[in-house]
Amino acid sequence: MQINVIQAGKNQPQSFQGQNVIIIGGSSGIGLATARRAKDAGANLFLISRNSQRLGEAAKAIGGATQIVSDIAAPRPDIFAGIDRIDHLLITAGTVQLQPLKDQSEADLLQVMNERLIGPLLAIKIALPLLHAASSITLTSRQFASRPAAGGAVVAAAVAAVESAARALAIELSPTRVNAVSPGWVDTPLLDGLMGDAKRQVLEQTASILPSRNIGAPDDIAQAILFLMANRFVTGEALHVDGGGRWV
Ligand SMILES: NC(=O)c1ccc[n+]([C@@H]2O[C@H](COP(=O)([O-])OP(=O)(O)OC[C@H]3O[C@@H](n4cnc5c(N)ncnc54)[C@H](OP(=O)(O)O)[C@@H]3O)[C@@H](O)[C@H]2O)c1
Repeated sequence: MQINVIQAGKNQPQSFQGQNVIIIGGSSGIGLATARRAKDAGANLFLISRNSQRLGEAAKAIGGATQIVSDIAAPRPDIFAGIDRIDHLLITAGTVQLQPLKDQSEADLLQVMNERLIGPLLAIKIALPLLHAASSITLTSRQFASRPAAGGAVVAAAVAAVESAARALAIELSPTRVNAVSPGWVDTPLLDGLMGDAKRQVLEQTASILPSRNIGAPDDIAQAILFLMANRFVTGEALHVDGGGRWV
């Protein structure tokens, strides 16, 4: 039996030629790997983070990018000054400190919410005049949204809210698409701070129990992010790239 398929349009081959890709958190780890992939695909890169020296090193490493210093927890009103059009916005900036609730002050809790949720929403608000029908926004969640860890209550709440916000914004900002990527354990500088000298051992042990039997590399997540940016039929999605970590 022949099946009729409606082909109102086609996804274009994954080219970012001449497109403006803005990455908040682009100087390291997942953001830097995404920048590298987008640059290789022809994009104009704009990297945003807090430290100008690290931004400079990242821009050099990928062969050139515009660098903007801003803290996502309190984005500068002129964060996108000089950018005339946003084709793809990735917000991947973030830090993680796991701490029991009893040791966290109100200021600690608010800092996590500002960095993970309120700041990204404010950045999107500032970006609104620069977005167009074919733009995409990708937010970053974490596996903690569905698989909790002790010491991570506020992070878990914030990233679950990020996934919810992506769904709501996909409706509100339509036809601009809004998605979230939710990485599992990925070997980046973030984990050096979190695990210190135990990192190698912890990652090997984690890999041995993951269904994928490996830890993520930054480029595994970058590949998924470019998919979310490029596929015109994906919106309001939280894409889990976690080696199956939610199920063990
Ligand atoms: N690695 C993992 O296993 C993993 C797993 C799940 C989710 N994630 C999430 O993925 C995102 C990226 O993580 P990563 O592993 O790539 O980390 P990373 O290597 O430490 O990179 C983080 C990037 O964000 C920037 N940044 C951090 N805080 C910022 C702030 N307040 N304002 C602006 N920029 C900021 C950093 O630059 P500066 O410090 O110079 O500002 C850097 O460019 C984070 O949200 C993280 O929670 C990571």
